[in-house]
Amino acid sequence: MDKVIRKANKLKGEITPPPDKSISHRAVMFASLAKGTSRIKNFLWAKDPISSLNAMKSLGVEIEIIKEREIIVNGKGLRSLNESNDIIDCGNSGTTIRLLSGILAGQPFLSILTGDDSLRQRPMKRIIEPLSMMGATIFGRKENTLPPLIIKGGKLRGINYEMPIASAQVKSCILLAGLFAEGETTVIEPQKSRDHTEKMLKSIGAGIEVHRNIIKLSLPQRELNPFEITIPGDFSSAAFFIAGATLIKGAELIIRNVCLNETRTGFMDVLKTMGASIEILTQNIQAGELVGDLRIKSAEALKGITVEGDIIPRLIDEFPILCVVASQAEGKTIIRDAKDLRVKESDRIKAMTTELKKMGVHIEELEDGVEINGPCKIRAYEVYSYKDHRIAMALSIAGLLAEGETKIIDADCVDISFPEFYSLLENLQR
Ligand code: S3P
Repeated sequence: MDKVIRKANKLKGEITPPPDKSISHRAVMFASLAKGTSRIKNFLWAKDPISSLNAMKSLGVEIEIIKEREIIVNGKGLRSLNESNDIIDCGNSGTTIRLLSGILAGQPFLSILTGDDSLRQRPMKRIIEPLSMMGATIFGRKENTLPPLIIKGGKLRGINYEMPIASAQVKSCILLAGLFAEGETTVIEPQKSRDHTEKMLKSIGAGIEVHRNIIKLSLPQRELNPFEITIPGDFSSAAFFIAGATLIKGAELIIRNVCLNETRTGFMDVLKTMGASIEILTQNIQAGELVGDLRIKSAEALKGITVEGDIIPRLIDEFPILCVVASQAEGKTIIRDAKDLRVKESDRIKAMTTELKKMGVHIEELEDGVEINGPCKIRAYEVYSYKDHRIAMALSIAGLLAEGETKIIDADCVDISFPEFYSLLENLQR
């Protein structure tokens, strides 16, 4: 499906962003491993977390769908999963395939994991290597680098693993395998990535100790406790609206109930430094996470900035929309140290450079990021999403700034994380 976007003269009102995608994946997986009944409220009803839900079902976990966004998981404990009688399809979801591989490495049966065209091009050596060191037998296509993956799980031993890249998916994969291992498992990250796994596992009884970038899973491993959770809103989905309200003249938006976990909010810090008006109205703790309401007003002036180093993992998924914001800032914006963006749902560096150039943005591709010289007049054009949800949403926000009609080809990929994106966007313009 394609989508036509027209210039917005208004963006006003209130939204509640969809439930957090990262927490939704983890909630359904961890509840499946816990011993007892867990209730998950405000579960993200979108393609990616549904891939995780279906994967756990195919491993024999009883999951009751009470209604859209509410599920009950009848976990039977760490050693209760059964071999799936089919290949497990992880769809577009890197989080599903990488976290699940960690769990399956510890199971005494065979698993085969695959996914869509995009997922089958995403690097898996980063999990195959540590899981093999732990004693798992795991193979991938193209000399053990790409899915499908074949995992013959079994007895694992804990490892002390220094990760070459900051990645919450790799970190979580190793920690989940560690739950089934003999001996302690320690992961050390070069920079801190999102920490939902550590927080959630600790809160349900796993022996997790965190010291800065070092996470240790101490012994003995116990059964995980069932839990009830109401998942807060996804900051990465809210980011598109934060950008929209910042860029559209006269805009004012309230964003309710969004997760403000520090490992996720680098985009807000960068926008504030660039000159955006973002106010935190309320803050409280929900499901062990800082959650709040935000008020965003149209920015008077934005200035270019250099974004690099430790902040990159804290805004990794916001790169596409940050490029759009930078196109409206005065002067040069450089984003670097972000090479991993080339192996996300699409090559996001190439995708944003190619498509924003078509829209008149002065953007140049760097090996590990981009350089943008603003402010640029955005022109309406036919642009491609690369079937990547975050590219489609970022280009849509760019389209709100252009005179005329911007056509986003293959815009329905927003279903991966934010099915109601276009209806929310349209409501705020009425
Ligand atoms: C995610 C981690 C990040 C992020 C992805 C979701 C997670 O990937 O880009 O959208 O839920 O753990 P990496 O861990 O590969 O950086």
